[in-house]
Amino acid sequence: MGKSISGFSKLSKSEKIDWILKTHFSDRKNAKNILIQYWNTDEKLQQLHDEFIENTITNYHLPFGVAPNYLINEKLYTLPMAIEESSVIAAASKAAKFWLNRGGFKTKVISTIKVGQVHLIYHGNFETLKRYFNFIKPQLIKDTNSITKNMEQRGGGIIDIELKNKTKDLKDYYQLHATFETLDAMGANFINSCLEQFAKTFKTEAQKFELFSSEEKNIQIIMSILSNYVPECLVRAEVSCKVEDLNEDKSISPEEFATKFIQAVNIAEIEPYRAVTHNKGIMNGVDAVVLATGNDFRAVEAGVHAYASRHGKYSSLTHAKVDKGIFTFWIEIPLALGTVGGLTNLHPLVKLALEMLGNPNAKELMQIVAVAGLAQNFAALRSLTTTGIQQGHMKMHLMNILNQFNANDNEKATLVEYFKSNIATHNAVVEALENLRR
Ligand code: HMG
Repeated sequence: MGKSISGFSKLSKSEKIDWILKTHFSDRKNAKNILIQYWNTDEKLQQLHDEFIENTITNYHLPFGVAPNYLINEKLYTLPMAIEESSVIAAASKAAKFWLNRGGFKTKVISTIKVGQVHLIYHGNFETLKRYFNFIKPQLIKDTNSITKNMEQRGGGIIDIELKNKTKDLKDYYQLHATFETLDAMGANFINSCLEQFAKTFKTEAQKFELFSSEEKNIQIIMSILSNYVPECLVRAEVSCKVEDLNEDKSISPEEFATKFIQAVNIAEIEPYRAVTHNKGIMNGVDAVVLATGNDFRAVEAGVHAYASRHGKYSSLTHAKVDKGIFTFWIEIPLALGTVGGLTNLHPLVKLALEMLGNPNAKELMQIVAVAGLAQNFAALRSLTTTGIQQGHMKMHLMNILNQFNANDNEKATLVEYFKSNIATHNAVVEALENLRR
């Protein structure tokens, strides 16, 4: 059982570590060694990482891998991917290679609108509130001038502010629902700063609005915050080819493959249990690129899954069809991403990842990330509808099992060779390792 502490945040890094070791570990020396093992030897770089978050005691490494051969709108990319799960990058690479010779990926940004809301409580007549809103709206925008100046110079800014009456859902609840164009920035700080200024002006100026009763003047601001639901920050990615060109798997005809593949997508469109796993596979690719490029994968996850439920039932993010002998497979996905601000200018690996992608702007990054999701889904569905997922996944996971049992380099080499022609299950790997050691 641990114990509580006051003033932990004020301790130095080494004092924090000492407290953690003393409070939670019996083998303190070993625990300390593990923490220190992950520190960067470059002190300045370590300090940078320490200062990304609070109470940092060490670094948590994720593998940073790459998937080459991504032909997107006629341009070749190598995708940087940060992920811990085996077989994701192999699958991404295999899908890229498959589509490389079939026209590659075609993408289009549909819209780039982001949303923020001031949530407020108002006791009174809606018509009077509407009149106040229309009267004050120009000032709401004017009062954010110092915040929006630079963004406007670059071509972005506030698009609109609407007053929304939500009293049917919650007594006396209204919103200032604002839309923004934040260009290459993800925009969270910009949007939140604008919203907080709207809230301040809206509340203060209400005191002077003559049509309000004294109760109506007392507008209560509950909170001002951007929304990670971005159904109008949408990107589409697509692949297509003649059905007869879906001809790589010798075990299945292209026609049968197309039919089974489309059925698998149809199932994910109508069955939430399947849709969640289907979309998880898409997020394998999306999150890995989002993380590698220093973007907020929690925001992306929340927004994507809300979008997948927008018709009232959780459903597939991808779709597929055959029309006049052409197989088409596509995704439409909301992605609010940034290529400036946040970690993008700070984390050396993020900068490297962005350079690897040719320093894309936010719209280009949206397209690349959507492609990563589509490709990942293609690879998973291709395996699921042909060999089954375990064959390829376990082939890639083999090294993790061997490491778990401390296999040496010779044992690894022998068993990797052995499992090229034998099916790798956890038990089969353990058994083969035991046989080898006997
Ligand atoms: P394979 O045909 O055995 O691979 O596929 P191969 O050895 O013949 O190599 C073909 C190509 O695959 C390679 O070309 C690489 O592009 C790639 P090359 O580089 O030789 O020119 N590739 C690799 N890339 C990097 N490192 C490797 C590697 N091996 C192959 N070691 C593969 C094997 C795993 C790719 C295939 O079986 C596959 O795509 N499986 C799907 C795996 C998958 O989806 N994994 C995600 C985790 S499972 C999950 O979480 C999602 C799921 O539940 C979602 C859903 O239900 O929809 C499945």
